[in-house]
Amino acid sequence: MRRTGRFRTTLSSKVAVALSGLGLAGFVVFHMLGNLQVFEGPGAYNKYAAFLREMPMVLWTVRLGLLTVAVVHIVRAIQLALRNRRARPVAYTVRAYRVASLASRTMALTGSLLLLFIVFHLLHLSADLVDSSFHDHVDERGHADVFSKVIHAFHNPLYVLLYCAGQLVLGMHLSHAISGSLQTLGFEHAVRNRVFKAVGPSVALFVMLGNLVIILAVFFGLVRT
Ligand code: HEM
Repeated sequence: MRRTGRFRTTLSSKVAVALSGLGLAGFVVFHMLGNLQVFEGPGAYNKYAAFLREMPMVLWTVRLGLLTVAVVHIVRAIQLALRNRRARPVAYTVRAYRVASLASRTMALTGSLLLLFIVFHLLHLSADLVDSSFHDHVDERGHADVFSKVIHAFHNPLYVLLYCAGQLVLGMHLSHAISGSLQTLGFEHAVRNRVFKAVGPSVALFVMLGNLVIILAVFFGLVRT
């Protein structure tokens, strides 16, 4: 492939990874805010889940959209990583570690671990295949009892450990991903640069702390059935 062609393909992959990544980050923020309703008790939490289930067309459109975006993100990110490796067959002897943050150097690793976490999470809390104790459970209003499922899950120290580890990996991945995506999409500006660089770590910390608060509040009995 000619140099300009290769440049264009790399650029289109970078834009695809950035746009799909920002879309997924949006879902993660939205999901965390939705899950915070666990502090309002079973009524509010189960009503939110029921609201989505009552509109199967909307639910499945969102699910398929999310899956498509996730596939685009993963495939294009792998393509980019392979292309970068091919373009630099001999590893640098002196790596510029001082310039690149730990989060940016470990994107492939945190991305892969995050994928494993998400697959586990879906099998666990969405498909009920890891623990089916609350599969057909309904609350007093007849809504699926997602609240009790979450409370039951985070009483188990093993799941608490797995979910806390998942949040650390998510935080690291998001921290570099959001700033990097904004940079790729050309949002960086000489004066506002510091603000854009701070957006990624701030959103990552917000999501990570929000999720950790839910997990630990349930584990320590602050939220109970
Ligand atoms: C404390 C942390 C979290 C809790 C308590 C939680 C809880 C849940 C629950 C209860 C469901 C099933 C909803 C239902 O059956 O109606 C679910 C689904 C899901 N979660 Fe989470 N989640 C957490 C973190 C995450 C994270 C960090 C991600 C992604 C990185 C994620 C991605 C998803 C996805 C993709 C679904 C499927 C949505 C669907 O059914 O369409 N979750 N989560």
